Amino acid sequence: MGRSWMIASGKGGVGKSTIAAALGTGLAREGRRVCVVDADIGLRDQDAILGVENRIVYDLVDVANKECLLNQALISPDGEENLTLLPAAQFARAKELEPKAFRKILRQLKEMNDEVLIDCPAGIERSLRGLMNSDVDETIVICTPDDVCIRNAERVCGLMEQKRLPRPQVIVNRLNPALIEYGDMYAAQVVAQVLDLPLLGEVPEEPMIYRALLAHMNVMDVACEGREALVRIARRMRGESVPLPCYGTAALPWYRRLFRPKHKEVKRIDC
Ligand SMILES: Nc1ncnc2c1ncn2[C@@H]1O[C@H](COP(=O)(O)OP(=O)(O)OP(=O)(O)O)[C@@H](O)[C@H]1O
Ligand SMILES: [Mg+2]
Repeated sequence: MGRSWMIASGKGGVGKSTIAAALGTGLAREGRRVCVVDADIGLRDQDAILGVENRIVYDLVDVANKECLLNQALISPDGEENLTLLPAAQFARAKELEPKAFRKILRQLKEMNDEVLIDCPAGIERSLRGLMNSDVDETIVICTPDDVCIRNAERVCGLMEQKRLPRPQVIVNRLNPALIEYGDMYAAQVVAQVLDLPLLGEVPEEPMIYRALLAHMNVMDVACEGREALVRIARRMRGESVPLPCYGTAALPWYRRLFRPKHKEVKRIDC
């Protein structure tokens, strides 16, 4: 029986889908059988990220409504025989996915795979609540290093606790090491401390991640620091001990503090 991972965030657009697709690919290339479930009903995007958008016939809601068999809805990206995607419905509403039916599908997927990654919708509404069940084995909260995202992540963690899900681990995304070192951005450990969660990994702000999406490429095929970061996280998910932190610590050595370049101040415009 495989493991399932719920990948959630309070705030939207923080990188859940990007990270879920990359970690799914990374784990599959390490020989794990992986299924990525796009559970963002009505706003599907994993198909585009994984390059299978022209091959979708059935989706998660079709499987839940018994309009097709689970196997008929699963798609493998070209050359990734260990990886499958269960796409989200494009035009359905979240309430069309029965929580009981989702749980049954999740159990089936765990029987077929080593790892099942659930790419969740943002927020704490019914669309997320309906995905929370006791077949979820691990939870990950994605957070960017800012107060708004941290506050919303706290709400998701509260909901997970209320639903008796396992305690989440946090991945901090879009870190800028230069800003962190000069004290202008929270380091990943600071975010993890504020949330009081174990830090699973950290990903830098990486232009190649966005450019790979535009070029319809999988970020795991692009040589860049972002890819290295995601490979490290996939290894940590497999239980390997891979050291952190990687992208800036708050404390600078004295000689770098002495010669630090001046940053432009954030100034209010006088009206
Ligand atoms: N580390 C990063 N560096 C640069 N761009 C990134 C990074 N992580 C994500 N992005 C970009 O941010 C955008 C939003 O990412 P993504 O769609 O994965 O977020 P999401 O949390 O799934 O959003 P939603 O809440 O809408 O589902 C995408 O354009 C993606 O390429
Ligand atoms: Mg998404």
